[in-house]
Amino acid sequence: PDPTPDAADLLVWYDRHRRVLPWRALPGAVPDPYRVWLSEIMLQQTTVAAVKPYFARFLERFPDIATLAAAPEEAVMSAWAGLGYYSRARNLHACAKAVVAAGGFPETVEGLRKLPGIGAYTAGAVAAIAFDRPAAAVDGNVERVVSRLFAVEEPLPGARPVLRRFAETLVPQERPGDFAQAVMDLGATLCTPKRPACALCPWMRPCRARREGTQDTFPRKLKK
Ligand code: ADE
Repeated sequence: PDPTPDAADLLVWYDRHRRVLPWRALPGAVPDPYRVWLSEIMLQQTTVAAVKPYFARFLERFPDIATLAAAPEEAVMSAWAGLGYYSRARNLHACAKAVVAAGGFPETVEGLRKLPGIGAYTAGAVAAIAFDRPAAAVDGNVERVVSRLFAVEEPLPGARPVLRRFAETLVPQERPGDFAQAVMDLGATLCTPKRPACALCPWMRPCRARREGTQDTFPRKLKK
């Protein structure tokens, strides 16, 4: 039988190799849900490098969610200008108002999902990273990691629900927020789309694609 990927092995790697990013709390510190949420919305269709300067400027103009909620729509849109996908900014503002009206963020996936602009991915990411709930945050990078670990033959996009279910089986009760970020870092730095650095991967042994030498062929994609 295949060995199961162990979250503890990934967390050991994360403690050594975690990326330092402006929206991340320092190790041991309590994360700020506002920063976690804002960064996850910005990162949805935009790279880490492109988000960094916007994230810093946004926080200068709107240092907390109450300031953002009270700001005029035009001020929010102008701070977002250049990031693209402007429905994100409109939803961001609506979400800030709803959260302030409710007295704070909901801490569960189900509660977060009801907010404007928060889908399955963002709800999982915020629940895990901001509130340390054992939730999966499954984006394209995580789908790639999981498709390789389990050598999922079904092509994207149809494989999404299967990949999500596999991802959910991996989430630990201990440090789920660090775990979510660790899987993202693994996908960004080692388990890359081309030429993944399997020799450095903490999940090399339990990875079925690696064992079969097919890591470059996952995730499978429906031919257009
Ligand atoms: N991509 C999406 N969310 C991220 C996060 N929290 N850290 C790094 N990359 C990400």
